[in-house]
Formats: sequence, structure tokens, C-alpha cells
Amino acid sequence: MCGIIGIVLRYQRALSKPLGSVIKGCLKNLEYRGYDSVGFALASSNSLVIRKSKGKIDEVDVKLAFDDFDGICGVGHTRWATHGKPSDINAHPLTDCSKRIVVVHNGIIENYLELKEELIRRGHRFESETDTEVVPHLIEEFKKLGMNSYDAFKKAASLLRGTYALAVIDTDEPGRIYFARNTSPLVIGIRDDATFLASDIPAFIDYTRKVIVIQDDEVGYISGSDVRIEKLVSKSYEVDLTPPICELVDYSSRIRHIDWTPEMAKKGGYPHFMLKEIHEQPQAIASTLSSLANEVKDVLKLISKADRVLIVGAGTSYHASFVGSILLSELAEVKSHAIISSEMKWYSRSVDECDVVIAVSQSGETIDTLLAVREARRRGALTIALTNVIDSTLARESHLTIYTRAGPEVGVAATKTFSAQVVALTYLALSLAEYRSTLSTNKLNELKNSLRSLPDYVSSTISATEPRARSLASLISSKQNAYYLGRGLGLPVSMEGALKLKEVAYIHAESYPAGESKHGPIALVDEGFPVFFTILGSNDGELIISNVEEMKARGALTIAVIPSNLDRIHKYFNYAFIMHPVPYEVAPSLYIIPHQLLAYYTAVTLGYDPDKPRNLAKTVTVV
Ligand code: F6R
Repeated sequence: MCGIIGIVLRYQRALSKPLGSVIKGCLKNLEYRGYDSVGFALASSNSLVIRKSKGKIDEVDVKLAFDDFDGICGVGHTRWATHGKPSDINAHPLTDCSKRIVVVHNGIIENYLELKEELIRRGHRFESETDTEVVPHLIEEFKKLGMNSYDAFKKAASLLRGTYALAVIDTDEPGRIYFARNTSPLVIGIRDDATFLASDIPAFIDYTRKVIVIQDDEVGYISGSDVRIEKLVSKSYEVDLTPPICELVDYSSRIRHIDWTPEMAKKGGYPHFMLKEIHEQPQAIASTLSSLANEVKDVLKLISKADRVLIVGAGTSYHASFVGSILLSELAEVKSHAIISSEMKWYSRSVDECDVVIAVSQSGETIDTLLAVREARRRGALTIALTNVIDSTLARESHLTIYTRAGPEVGVAATKTFSAQVVALTYLALSLAEYRSTLSTNKLNELKNSLRSLPDYVSSTISATEPRARSLASLISSKQNAYYLGRGLGLPVSMEGALKLKEVAYIHAESYPAGESKHGPIALVDEGFPVFFTILGSNDGELIISNVEEMKARGALTIAVIPSNLDRIHKYFNYAFIMHPVPYEVAPSLYIIPHQLLAYYTAVTLGYDPDKPRNLAKTVTVV
């Protein structure tokens, strides 16, 4: 996820160092967000300097020479590529044709293609492959049409669809940085002699702890001594001269004093990255959904005419693949199978040019998954990568790529990348169902609407289930073993829940299809043995009751993750996480949340560091 810093000084050298040095320090404090390129722009009354490069700050510092540049106003950026590969040209800041307006951006502008076409028609020349570059050109265009600098910025912001945090310098107004936010985070830091704007508080924590969090649909500017915030109340998507309607915001009651340590600040105030990333799932899902339409459109025909679709992945990515294979089959009537990457070689003799292989990997570097793709390609299959990292080896080696946009994941245990993968595969299955007319219009619309509402459901589910996860953790932390049972889509969710508990709390946890539990696993169950049941809807709910009874008869401690509308079943369980009822097909990325939270809090109760589980690595590049 990109990192933004913007600083306006009240007077030159207000922070006792060249502004380039200050920006470098602030960007280093944002390095934990992950990035592949870095850049900055510094403005004073008569000059503008822009320096940018692919690479890490320390590597490219010699070339960029941050410390050699000073100014009164500056922006800096660490880019985590989403549109366009990591390169010097695609690095931010990006500029307009006259190179007088500079923009840094975090997020995804969904309608950039249509805006770009319109701007090209009006004579603008683009240099990068990014979605961001439309912003400086839009501002330039509105100024050309007669608007003043700030109105042109507001008008440009009002035209954008998607997610964005923007910081903009227009050299005609060198003492201001304009900003706008929708979904992507943005905070202001205030002190007497300087004002800061950043993606996250750690950027400027060495200089101030007085902050204002910018809210969605707010626009405004900072100067050396002032902050102006307005709420964008009307948007028009026409490139015309109608100014957007904005209301001035009185932010005085929103100024906060932060007492976090710098280490806490990097984790956004959370004690661990794992918890932060669990809480980032609404944004991970929203960003992923916002960019899928184009990528998925390209693969519908190809998948539809394939004999079968094999979905390969390892660990958590295999669990997402498993969800995907069920949905492709159930919703789109596509023959699909999920295969663990390292087991793919036992199936590869049957792979040929009539197959599509979808390879799922958050890192895009897992060697088992890469080997599966290489072999499938050699045998003529069409390969599609589903990955979170642009330009990763998997993306480069596959014929086509679909990206999840969860932002970088620091915690070793995958959380937000899992929900993003599941959502991407659900979207793919629904698009295929529409393309192949395998669902009624009503059902299709119901599922599409629920998918769109998932970020909100996920957000309320985190708040609703976290207290119970925290309290149940002390009970689970005293156990040696646990079973996780489910049916249908409840099975991959259970498998992922068991993996999370195993990985971070070191408790032996196994997952089985609930119907399979009586064929052996039940032999281990005795008084107090924890058995989790993940029930996504009434179909699996009715069937699972006999499995619950079997476990209870042996004294098991039964815990359910279950929708609120199955209340007649709640009584069968010792404990239950009561969930918002959503259609079964979109439930997996919601129903995993209590499992993630429980694993996290159990690890913490036992005194383990969930961010760095023993024996595990974030990226596994050995077979
Ligand atoms: C589990 C976890 C691992 C990864 C697996 C595949 O929390 O993180 O099981 O899912 O190593 O990694 P990627 O998705 O990078 O291919």
C-alpha cells in the first residue's frame, strides 16, 4: 500500500533540516507499508524539483539525493504498484503536461481509463501507465477552462470513482498542499511551524502528535499555518465547469493528541500487524472489488470454453482455491478442482491445452505454485495468476493475471489476503455465471449486491465478534487439540480456521468435513475437547446437527460460527459466534473472521508473538 507524506513549512528550515531530509525520514517511517518505488517533489516560490526512482529508499538515496534539496512545501511517496509495473516513470509524483502540478496518490481510480481517453482527446500527453496520472491532467484541464487552482482540484477530485488519498502541489500556489480522501487513509499532523499530511501517523510522529483524521469524501488543503477541510456533498461525473458542492467542516473537535510509541504507530495503534491486518479486511475487500471488472472480463470466454479449471495454491491460498472451485462449480457450472500446489505433479500428466490453471498466491513467489504453473504451461494449459503482488514471478510467468489489492501483508499468518482472494474468486464465479446464464437474474443480483456490501458486513462482524474471541481465547489456550468441522463452503473456512490456530497459537488443530468426523476423528474426542462448527446457512445447518450431537455425546466442547437466523440450532452449542446472515455463497470471507480473531487472541494469551510464528516464513521459495 502506497505511503504519502506532505509537509508545508511556515518558514524555510522550520524543522532545522532541509525539507528533502525531513521527507526522507517520514517516508522511512512508512516503509512497513511495503513499496517498490520512491519519489518526492519540493516547491518554493520560484522552483519545483521532482526526483523519483524504482527501488528502496536507502538504495536510491544516492541517486535521488534527498538531503540536497530544500523548499517550503513538499510531498513524498512510496509506491506499491497496482496499475503499471514498478518503474522510474510509474513512480510518483506524477505531473500534468506543463509539469507544474504534482500528485501523489494511494488507492485505485476505477474510472481512469474513461477520464484518460477524454483528456487525450483534449490534447493531454500521458507518460506513465498509472491510473494516478489522470489527476494532474484533470486539474490542468480545469485551470485551462478558467477555474482557479483550488476549485480545479476539487472538481478533479469530484470526478474520481474508486479509492484514493491524494496530495497535490500546484506551483501556482506553492504554500499549499491540496488533499482528498475516499477509503484510503489520510491524516493531518499539526504543529506551530509546520503542517503535515500523511497516509499514517508514524510518518510524522517524530515531529508532532497532534492529529486530525481525514474522513471519506473530504477535500481541502494544508498550509504552513492553516488547515481547511470541506465535505464534498455533490459529485458530477461530467468533465464540465460545474463546481462540486462542498460544505466547510469545523474540525476543532476532531483534533487528537496521540500518545503512541513510534513502534505502536507503525502498527496503527494495534499491538500486532496480524490484528491490524484483520481489521484492514473491509478495505482489502473494497479495493480488490473495485478493480476486478476489467481483469475478469478478459478471462470469461477463455475459462468458459475450457474442459476444466484447476485452481492451485499452498496453505491459506489453497483454502481460497478450494472456495473458488466450489463456487465455479456451484454458480457457473464449470468443472473445477482445487489442488494443493505441491501435489499438482501427480495430476499433471492429464493437463493439456483444454485446461485452465488458476494459480493463487498472495506473494506470487511460492515455489510449489510456480512449479505447478510452469508444468501446466509446458503442457499447453492457459495459466492465470491470482496474486497480491504486481509483477511478481507468478504474474510474469502466467499468461494472464488477476490482482487482489489487499495491500502488503506484514504478519506471517495470512488474513486479509485470504479474504481478498476469496472475494476475487467469488467475483470470478459470479461473472462466469452471468456470462454462461447459469443463475436466475434475481439470484445473480442478490449475490452481487451481497458481495458489494461485504466490506460493511466485515467491518461490523469484526466489532461484534472481537469481544467473544478475546474471552474465549483463555479457554482455548488451555487446550492441546481442536477439531474444525464444516460442510460445503464451511469446510475450507474450517480448514483456514484450524491453520490459523495451529500457526500462531501452536495448538494442534485439524479440520474435517463434518460428515467425515464419525469415520475416525471422533475416536479422539473426550470431555472438554473443543470442536468448532462453521455453519454458513440453513443447508449445512440442518445436516450438521447430527454431527454436533455425536460430538456432544462424547463430552466435546462445541463452538459454532453460525448465522443469527438459525436460532433454533444455537442451543446445540456451548458457545457461538452469532453472524450476520448473508447468502451462503458470499459467507466465507465473513465467517473466517471469528476464527482469525480467536487464533490471534489465543496466541497473545499464551504469550506468543503472532506476527512471527516459529518455523514459518512469509514467502516460501523452497520445495
Ligand atoms: C498461512 C500462510 C501460508 C501461505 C502459503 C502460500 O497463514 O500464510 O500457508 O498461505 O505459504 O503463500 P502464498 O499465498 O504467498 O503463495
